[in-house]
Amino acid sequence: MKKIINVTVGSRKVDLADCETDLLCVGLFSDAKVLDKVNGELDKRLGGAIWRVVEPGDFKGKSGTSALVYGEGIAAKRVLLVGLGEKKKATLDTVRGAAACAANRAVGLKVENISLALHKAFGKRFDLAVAGQASAEGVYFGSYRYDEYITESEDGRLDKLSVELVDSDAVAVRKLQKGLLSGAVVGAAQSYARTVANRPGNVINPASLAEEAKKLASGSKQLSCTIFDEKQLAAKGMGGILAVGSGSQNKPRLIVLKYSSSKAAKSKPTVALVGKAVTFDSGGLNLKPSRGMGEMKFDKVGGIAVLGAMKAIAELNLGVNVYGIIPAAENMPGGSSYRPSDIVTTFSGKTVEIGNTDAEGRMILCDAISYADKQGCDVIVDIATLTGACKIALGKHMAGVMSNDTKLLKQLQQAAKLSGEKVWHMPSGDEYAEEMKSKVADLTNSASPWGGVCSAAAFLRQFAGERKWAHLDIAGVDMFEKGTKFAVAGSSGFGVRLLVSYVTGLAGKR
Ligand code: BES
Ligand code: MN
Ligand code: ZN
Repeated sequence: MKKIINVTVGSRKVDLADCETDLLCVGLFSDAKVLDKVNGELDKRLGGAIWRVVEPGDFKGKSGTSALVYGEGIAAKRVLLVGLGEKKKATLDTVRGAAACAANRAVGLKVENISLALHKAFGKRFDLAVAGQASAEGVYFGSYRYDEYITESEDGRLDKLSVELVDSDAVAVRKLQKGLLSGAVVGAAQSYARTVANRPGNVINPASLAEEAKKLASGSKQLSCTIFDEKQLAAKGMGGILAVGSGSQNKPRLIVLKYSSSKAAKSKPTVALVGKAVTFDSGGLNLKPSRGMGEMKFDKVGGIAVLGAMKAIAELNLGVNVYGIIPAAENMPGGSSYRPSDIVTTFSGKTVEIGNTDAEGRMILCDAISYADKQGCDVIVDIATLTGACKIALGKHMAGVMSNDTKLLKQLQQAAKLSGEKVWHMPSGDEYAEEMKSKVADLTNSASPWGGVCSAAAFLRQFAGERKWAHLDIAGVDMFEKGTKFAVAGSSGFGVRLLVSYVTGLAGKR
């Protein structure tokens, strides 16, 4: 099986014109009338080669565009102009996106060594460590390819990509380098998550996902991993997870990763990150339509985002105790499947009438959330491809966030801003909880189709007890249908950066 591209990042103090590299990447805003100082100086050395592309409008600096410039007079073999869009609209994600675009182009060009000076265009707008982190994250994101199972390809692809951030100022380089190291950890964790997420249901089932988590933990001193198999789930009374898994040959698991830090201050909360891992969601007896059903291999990505986040949190040694709780099941129709109208007793003791076997995510999450509560976690953040309604409401640009705690909501919104993984607040109050009441059980798992994002969240909220709780519905942002200038088609890895950024904030490390 092919390994994913091996990315390495570093930094170097060098004058841009003297930077020996296969590809020197610089940024350009779309509303700049003249070249800025950095590009102007390069242009002079290149005898006007940059201006000859920019002046006639052949390159306009739009976000997601780039243009190659060749010429003599500098040490780099080529220059890549990377579009940054309008200057006043630039955010930290513009830096990340530009790095992704450049790295994506480099892989396309099969260029192994690239040097990024993208941060220079932003002047003092961002702290250089923060820009360094975003650049590294972007490089991993844009260079990512998923081709594990392609045994024959006509033109092959790069095995490795070596990236350096360059600046002529030693102090700037030191700052960039600091952020670069964390960015590389987060970027690599996100690529890892994308790879596991892209694997299909015949490769990733609850047991093999559990093995993956074990493997991850065995490579880390701070991570431990406990797996509960179907017998242990039955002994614990985790009726929700068992019901969803009952129709599949591949039996369900509860994966519990734990990152414990000896340096975690008592004042810091213990956090539970809970991720839905339905390794394939056929809908069960309420079978989904055949069109697009294959996309439901991505129904495990909430759990995998937690896996990726735990990898990064442990490597960064963030100093906040964190549980990664991943309920894993395959939702299949069969003679032993759970049925519409069944009444399931969940781990919490609450009973749930099954209105629809396709509303399975909440059935596995409710047990995992109760488990987090019983473990004494102070804060519970769950992440799940929970509802088609969220995809309809917010489209493919942001995740829905719902919470019972304003401070937690603000922290997640701040993490979204910094990580570039956007969230939009939606309600999940008692009006919605009311809709989830059943006549024959405590709750139903599916009620009216209206406001399905909110009622699903209100269902989950009731399992968090008195804990601070938030829910991220990532149904619209889990994957890219088509490749873009920033990323290839397939898993987006959404959530890894957001969750790590949230825990980094708690740790007070930014
Ligand atoms: N995994 C789906 C939600 C989903 C849909 C994710 C599209 C990504 C893209 C979830 O399990 C589901 O089927 N939800 C149902 C709930 C309904 C039966 C109450 C839905 O959204 O239709
Ligand atoms: Mn479903
Ligand atoms: Zn699902």
